[in-house]
Amino acid sequence: MIDSKYVLDRLQMRSPDFGLPGDFYGDPDIYALELNLIFYREWLFAAHSSELQAPGSYLTLQIGAYPILLVRAKDGVIRAFINSCRHRGARICPDPRGVASKLVCPYHQWTYALDGSLFAARQMGSAFDRSQFGLRRVHCETVAGYIFICLAPDAPDFTATRRQIEPYLLPHQLAEARVAYESTIVEEGNWKLVWENNRECYHCARNHPELARTFPDTPTVTSGAVEPAVQAHWQRCEAAGLPSRFQLSEDGQVRTARMPLLGSALSYTLNGQPAVRKPLSTAIEPANDFGALLFFHYPSSWNHFLADHAISFRIVPLGPRQTQLTTKWLVHRDAVEGVDYDVSELTRVWLATNAQDRRIVHENQIGMDVPTYQPGPYSQVQESGVRQFVDWYASRMQAGLAAARLTQVA
Ligand code: FES
Ligand SMILES: [Fe+2]
Repeated sequence: MIDSKYVLDRLQMRSPDFGLPGDFYGDPDIYALELNLIFYREWLFAAHSSELQAPGSYLTLQIGAYPILLVRAKDGVIRAFINSCRHRGARICPDPRGVASKLVCPYHQWTYALDGSLFAARQMGSAFDRSQFGLRRVHCETVAGYIFICLAPDAPDFTATRRQIEPYLLPHQLAEARVAYESTIVEEGNWKLVWENNRECYHCARNHPELARTFPDTPTVTSGAVEPAVQAHWQRCEAAGLPSRFQLSEDGQVRTARMPLLGSALSYTLNGQPAVRKPLSTAIEPANDFGALLFFHYPSSWNHFLADHAISFRIVPLGPRQTQLTTKWLVHRDAVEGVDYDVSELTRVWLATNAQDRRIVHENQIGMDVPTYQPGPYSQVQESGVRQFVDWYASRMQAGLAAARLTQVA
């Protein structure tokens, strides 16, 4: 096992103008530290509340060693649980999603109510106390159609995140939207490479011909640098009731900003026209050129909200060199496929962009794995977003490693 003091020292001594050393993108011990200090501690985007419309609908996901179950109970509340039976641990719901009136463990049929309490367990004797064996809860917060979970015993306070994102997201009415299409791919690269690639558009012009038609590759979009044209865009959007100006949470984890698209583009399509005839929200006039609301939440999600649809991206690390990316396209609940939108038109640009980024990340990983790899400097003009992500990562890792050392010493 790698010495965590060694990892801490190297993070403390790194130059913020350069990338991280290569072993941060492949060493299994550093990856294990990241799971413990970041993915098992931070709030993570899990799913959309509209995916769990009816009581009894559930959805599962896997974060590292934790199988997670999200369920909407009869009281309408969405709760998250460890998807592991309190009897002898079997996974209760193996399917990605479903609807059930009770949650029945397939092994010996212990049966849980939708709120996680143990409803029935056969032949356990008269002394058995069912109330002690409800499903283990996971912290769960729903905000404007987004479900976040946190695996930590004591979750970080979610109040500031809610306060920041709710006003930006609410006008898009995502709680009433519907997932029209979902794609999951596995990228052959460390999760941080996926993020770093996302946080710059230095690579966009040559690598993303479809996206480059409507998405500006200026550093403004990734860094939040304030230009007069962007200021004017914010003023116009805010006058129309849409919170828009750039906001970065104090700790650098959460960003919200509404950015203009290229020229007169209204959506991420090849011709810039809306992909969905029925607007996503009654609060946003699609013909008005409001651009895209960009929202990221480290370490698990970035998002684009347009007038006609929204796209969420969720990343889950699968291993030191493997990352799962799930993309969902949301449309108005009543938008009809084949009438209001063509699913291949809706998804064309970002399916292509994801495939292009997947290749980029894989090639990046191969180069990172060279034993003599030395990180080069970031572009001062184009890569402040990458630097901002790595700074956030380093600060979280340093705080976690330093706290673990204090506990050891005590
Ligand atoms: S492990 Fe679930 S009922 Fe036995
Ligand atoms: Fe890209």
